[in-house]
Amino acid sequence: MRQSAGRSSSARCLQVLWPFLLSLFRVALPDQIRYSIPEELTKNSVVANLAKDLGLSFRDLPARKLRISAEKDYFIINPESGDLLVSDRIDRERICGKQPLCVLDFDIVAENPLSIFPVAVTVQDINDNIPQFKQSKVDLKIGESTKPGKTFPLDPAVDADAGPNSLQRYLLNDNEYFDLTENETPDGDKYPELILKDSLDREEHNFHQLVLTAVDGGSPPQSGTTQIHIQVTDANDNPPVFSQDVFRVTLREDVPPGFSVFRVTATDQDEGVNAEITYSFHNVDELVEHFFNLDQRTGEITTKDELDFETANSYTLNIEAKDPGDLAAHCRVQVKILDENDCAPEVIVTSVFTPLPENSPPGTVIALIKTRDRDSGENGEVYCHVLGNGEFILKSSSKNYYKLVTDRALDREEIPEYNVTITATDRGKPPLSSRISITLRVSDVNDNVPVFQQASYLVHVPENNPPGASIAQVSASDPDLGPNGHVSYSIVASDLEPRALSSYVSVNPQSGVVFAQRAFDHEQLRAFELTLQARDQGSPALSANVSLRVLVGDLNDNAPRVLYPALGPDGSALFDLVPRAAETGYPGTGGRPPLSATATLHLVFADSLQEVLPDLGDSPAPSDAQAELQFYLVVALALISVLFLLAVILAVALRLRSSSSPASWGCFRPGLISKSGPGVVPTYSEGTLPYSYNLCVASQSAKTEFNFLNVTPGVAPAQDLLCDDASWVPHTNHGDTGAPSASDTILKVGFPLIRLFSF
Ligand SMILES: *[C@@H]1O[C@H](CO)[C@@H](O)[C@H](O)[C@H]1NC(C)=O
Ligand SMILES: *[C@@H]1O[C@H](CO)[C@@H](O)[C@H](O)[C@H]1NC(C)=O
Repeated sequence: MRQSAGRSSSARCLQVLWPFLLSLFRVALPDQIRYSIPEELTKNSVVANLAKDLGLSFRDLPARKLRISAEKDYFIINPESGDLLVSDRIDRERICGKQPLCVLDFDIVAENPLSIFPVAVTVQDINDNIPQFKQSKVDLKIGESTKPGKTFPLDPAVDADAGPNSLQRYLLNDNEYFDLTENETPDGDKYPELILKDSLDREEHNFHQLVLTAVDGGSPPQSGTTQIHIQVTDANDNPPVFSQDVFRVTLREDVPPGFSVFRVTATDQDEGVNAEITYSFHNVDELVEHFFNLDQRTGEITTKDELDFETANSYTLNIEAKDPGDLAAHCRVQVKILDENDCAPEVIVTSVFTPLPENSPPGTVIALIKTRDRDSGENGEVYCHVLGNGEFILKSSSKNYYKLVTDRALDREEIPEYNVTITATDRGKPPLSSRISITLRVSDVNDNVPVFQQASYLVHVPENNPPGASIAQVSASDPDLGPNGHVSYSIVASDLEPRALSSYVSVNPQSGVVFAQRAFDHEQLRAFELTLQARDQGSPALSANVSLRVLVGDLNDNAPRVLYPALGPDGSALFDLVPRAAETGYPGTGGRPPLSATATLHLVFADSLQEVLPDLGDSPAPSDAQAELQFYLVVALALISVLFLLAVILAVALRLRSSSSPASWGCFRPGLISKSGPGVVPTYSEGTLPYSYNLCVASQSAKTEFNFLNVTPGVAPAQDLLCDDASWVPHTNHGDTGAPSASDTILKVGFPLIRLFSF
């Protein structure tokens, strides 16, 4: 073994050993014995036979007492054979560390004679150490956003062997992302480095496991491995993602506020905070924000307010999902609102034609009505009808429009006002309805004639009534309204002489009270008839006639008077002729109450007045038939004279009238006929009669030419006998409806008439 070791490596050893040889010379050891052994020989392995190498014989050995002199005893000597033995395991790495040449020097001491032999044993390395990493597992965290090319230094492996047996290289298992390189510290220590050769994606592979192997140069080579665990850490490189772009949701419009509509969910492949998504509305109009709420954490959409299909029947909710890195995703939620019959129909009266004239024919349009229902479909289909009375019907004119028309004739006097109720109902389930009331007034038309309460009137008026007294009242009713029902009364006809009418009676247009304009005299006028008219103020006016018959009742208003013989100026009695044939009660009285006048009656019985007159004072008149006859003759004569005179006057008057120009007319105030003096023009005092009239006379002619004629001198004008102008006018002036003529004036004067007897 010694030989082989010495020979095989002699050339190399020379090179290596040369410096040691020099040191050996220094201790002046000319002949140093050299051996070379591998390390790690087993105990008692023989290095070499010293006896032989020192040239000693076996026989001398016990005497020479070979022994080793060294600091440390790696070797021993077999005293019997002289072999150099390894005393214990020799670990080169422990003795020499990393030194490439490991030489153990010691001396062999021999006695008898004492000799010292220097020996050098070179311990050769064997590959007895494997490369070793300090840790069997290395944990690395690499961000996924790390750029390729980045290096990550690793702890080197350690191999105690020296030389070729030491660590030679590192190997990395085959992988996609990493490479291995070797780097060197400034001290020259080598260490492996990982190089990122491709971008990592945590979302694809968040973990990589590598095996790093350190290999030495031994033969066979030894290796050690370590696990490299690479955790790829998240970078916010993924936006949130919605599963769909558009979600469609239908929703009843009557859901309560807070109702959960939908929940949007976006996913983010990142992890941790990078995957924390917040949801928000994005570019939505105000209505959406008003009606919907979006939970920004959960993405749940709830209603905020009561929805109304009629306001909007769909909503588009644009939703954005965002992660902390502001990476965003968008989706749309289309919410379709389903209609419920939640809107009652509305009835809108667009125009009402009120008041409506009562004579409007059937079919007259009263109102235009529009219906509206904000619901859709059947919920929004509306039909209408009129409630109650059949006076009105609805006619559909176009979609949702109706005309309210009359269906029959109306009568304001019967029903002046209608409340027309119109009901609108939709076809929803259940149906909703609403109603509206139109107040329709019927306006008046003058369609009613005034109606008198009686078919005719008959009144009894006692004579000598006070002028202005009301003698009757007629009344007519007219159910029309306002002027159409406002009745006024008038006298339209009578059997009285038309011009005298107004001086007899008048009627209050408002009250229908008939007034006597004067005191009636039964002796003059026993009855008359009036036609009264009631007339309303419509346009055209309607009127009705009624007859009023007035009967003037007799009163005992005339006292018996002694006409002849006339009383003297002193009131003393004159004469009267009473026929001898006069029977009892001849000039009697029969009035009630009985009236009386007193006169002293001288009865003269004579054949003639002349014959009698001288004796009048003392002797009664003769009462024979001759005297009677004479008396009648006188009376007749007087009458004839009067008539003649009248004729003359009339002739003169007519002539004057035709020759003279029309005189100026003065107007007398009308009034009552005064009885105050004889022959006085009747004066009309103001205010005594409710209805007055003007009487116009030709004052000039009346005054100048025909004043106060006393026909019979000595006979007082008959003051008690009224001879009204009006009663005379018609007889003298027939057909003359103009101004009264001069002749009228004459006749208006109190005219003396001789009345023999007045009963
Ligand atoms: C119509 O209705 C009004 C208000 O409700 C009421 O005052 C009036 O009396 C009614 N008219 C009729 C004719 O019913
Ligand atoms: C009423 O009487 C007047 C006068 O006689 C006449 O003109 C008129 O036609 C009458 N009216 C009626 C409705 O009879």
